[in-house]
Amino acid sequence: MESKLKGKKIGVALTGSFCTFEKIFIELQKLVDAGADVYTIFSGASQTITSRFGTPEEYRKKAKEITGREPIFTIAEAEPIGPKAYLDALVIFPCTGNTAAKLANGITDTPVLMGAKAHLRNGKPLLISISTNDGLGMNMKNIGVLLNSKNIYFLPFGQDSPMKKPNSLIAHTDQLLPTLELALEHKQIQPILQSF
Ligand SMILES: Cc1cc2nc3c(=O)[nH]c(=O)nc-3n(C[C@H](O)[C@H](O)[C@H](O)COP(=O)(O)O)c2cc1C
Repeated sequence: MESKLKGKKIGVALTGSFCTFEKIFIELQKLVDAGADVYTIFSGASQTITSRFGTPEEYRKKAKEITGREPIFTIAEAEPIGPKAYLDALVIFPCTGNTAAKLANGITDTPVLMGAKAHLRNGKPLLISISTNDGLGMNMKNIGVLLNSKNIYFLPFGQDSPMKKPNSLIAHTDQLLPTLELALEHKQIQPILQSF
């Protein structure tokens, strides 16, 4: 059966949860294989921080190889997502606690947040793939605000390590495609809470 994602223009916005990037690129490839036309956007952190998980140069190269286009790296490049309305859906994949907190409070100071704001103004689905150690702590209130916001959908998430990291919440990134297919119809995949 042909994927519902075939021919859809999907934005994938990467923020600085570097430990998830390996899984993120696997799903990015699946999205392209399903026939989606993919545009990546990098936050300032994700395009500058080198960590034990990799370098910004590697991420940029990988994103270009998989999608066939240069990532969006600046607020100015992300802004036309609003007036041109060219994305069918945008997924913040992964979404840090920092980006979730800013989004819930209307802050627009990174290319990812600019893209999200621009996209939301068009009434199209914005997806969140949460990945934060303070999901059940300081960021719980922001996740609550986003869960209750119009046109925002969540990849299923759960506690990845309740004993070692009691406040950590991580999305099931391998459910990107089904979550997107439903979000394109403005439906939330269920159940949202799924254990690991
Ligand atoms: C190695 C490393 C791993 C990180 N992992 C996470 C993470 O999984 N979740 C998170 O919310 N922040 C994580 N951070 C912190 C964010 O990168 C930091 O808050 C940054 O300001 C996020 O900016 P952004 O949301 O604009 O990408 C990590 C930082 C480093 C250096």
